[in-house]
Parts: sequence; C-alpha cells; structure tokens
Amino acid sequence: MPTITYHHDTETPLTIEFPVGGTLLDASLTHGIPHSHACCGNARCTTCRVRVLDGGSYLAPRTAAEQKVAQEKNWPADIRLACQAKVLGDVKIKQLVLDSVAKNTSVEKCSDVMTGHERSLVVMFCDIANFTGFATQHLPYDVVYLLNRYFKEVCEPILTHQGYIDKYIGDGLMAIFGIEQRDPLENCLQAVQASLQMQTQVAELNKSVVKDFSHEFKIRIGLHYGLVIVGEIGHPSKRQLTVLGDTVNVASRIESVNKEFGTTLLISQDMMEHLENKVNLGRVVKTQLRGQSRTHVLYEITGLTNS
Ligand code: FES
Repeated sequence: MPTITYHHDTETPLTIEFPVGGTLLDASLTHGIPHSHACCGNARCTTCRVRVLDGGSYLAPRTAAEQKVAQEKNWPADIRLACQAKVLGDVKIKQLVLDSVAKNTSVEKCSDVMTGHERSLVVMFCDIANFTGFATQHLPYDVVYLLNRYFKEVCEPILTHQGYIDKYIGDGLMAIFGIEQRDPLENCLQAVQASLQMQTQVAELNKSVVKDFSHEFKIRIGLHYGLVIVGEIGHPSKRQLTVLGDTVNVASRIESVNKEFGTTLLISQDMMEHLENKVNLGRVVKTQLRGQSRTHVLYEITGLTNS
C-alpha cells in the first residue's frame, strides 16, 4: 500500500498508509489529520493545496478543474490540490494552508452554506432619510423604541416575500431574495413586491409616529440582481449567513442615489431585464454610481402591472 509522509516546519514527519486511487485529502481526513478544505473538495478554493516534496510522479495528473486553478494561480508542477490529486504510490508532501480552524474542520461539516458558493440573487438596501437628525433630537430610549417599531413594519414584507434579512446597519438594513429558490423572475418580483409593501407599511406607521413624535419616516430602497458569494462568515462561535461581492456594493449605491434623484425605490437594469412588463415605471435615470466605472441605468418603480 502506498505511503504518504506529511512534513511540517515544527513537527517530526508523519507517515500513513493509504490505498491507491484515493485523494490526498481523503487520506488526511480518513486518518484524522487536519487538512483545510474550504470548498469541500470541489477544486473551487486553494486551501487544500500541498507542495509535493517527493514522488510527484506517483500522483495522478491534474484534473481539468485543478488545471484551471493552477493556471490561474500560475502554480509550478509541485503544487497540487489535495482534493484532486489521487495517490498512486509513495509521496512526501507539505500542507500549505493549515491553521487552528482547519484543526476543527471535519468532512461532515462541509456544506455549501458553510463554505461559500456563487449564486445570482437580489440584494436590497433600505434606509431611512434624515434619521440622524431625528436621533440627535430625541431621547435614546425613544429612538430605540421607534426604530424597533419601524423595523417590525418594514421587515414583515421582506419575510413574507421569502426574503432573508442579512443585517441591520444603524437605521438601514440589507436583505436578500433568492437564498431559498433560484428563479430570477420570482426573486426579482418578490423583492419589488416587498419594497412596495414596505412603503405602504411605513405610510401606515407614520400616522402614529407623526402624532406621538412629530416625525415622519421616509424610506429609500435600492435593488440589484447579480452574482454574489453566499457563505457563513465570522468567528467560529458566531458565524452568520451573508453575501459578498460587487452586487452588494451596487445595491448599496443604488439606494444612496435615490437622494440625488428624489426617488424612493430604484432598481438596476439587471433587475429590470427580468421584470419586463411586470412593473410600472416612473423616472429612468442614467448615472455613474460611486466606485463603479460603468454607467448604470436605473428605474424608478411606482407599482406593479396586472400582467
Ligand atoms: S478543498 Fe477546495 S480545492 Fe480542494
């Protein structure tokens, strides 16, 4: 049976036996040897990579997926993805990504949600106009009381329309539509329906807020559809499902430019392409969003059509 010898900078080498045909990652995990594998062995990360110190010819050639990563990273021949490299004979390797988190990582914990995957979905940003002024003029308990009443009203439509509340950012919030299901039209439509209902809820809430606090909430919403990375992020004891990527930045910028155009609900061209004749439009504006090189066409949504 072939042997695999693990070399470390600080520990004495460890040698195990492993049957022909399994991967280096299989060998590590089968023998309880910590080995990072952030994409669960799908050649979508680089965390399982090893340097082959000896016996490189006793590993099966790179798979197409491994070759793609190696080309992108310009790796020399002795760097291999352990999850792709099948063992054919005796090899000596050194793991290149190994930390305390990897020591607690097991095969069973591997899942798309835990480890990150790409997905197209809708990102929503919603903010209260001029809330800072209100907060500075009122007692802290009143501010918290009112914000919680506000969030109760605006979050209900998000949840009702299959949205996921990603985070609260002061008086703002970020939500996602498309975690559960992948139909772009359905996700875009749900996000718009939620947005319109949020505006209605806030108008209703304002009746008592005006009476009790002489204040009126006005909200601004930005929606964008695009590719994001979905994953659970954070300290191992407190991780949270969230999304990352330029789609998030664009959605945030769209929400911000409502202020510039005097609008309250703007969506991107990428969303509009899925919604076609489903929405009633107000203004159509062309703008350069902050931090973005290309010009964006944005659409003000005033309602839904009957189709
Ligand atoms: S575990 Fe991600 S490439 Fe091997």
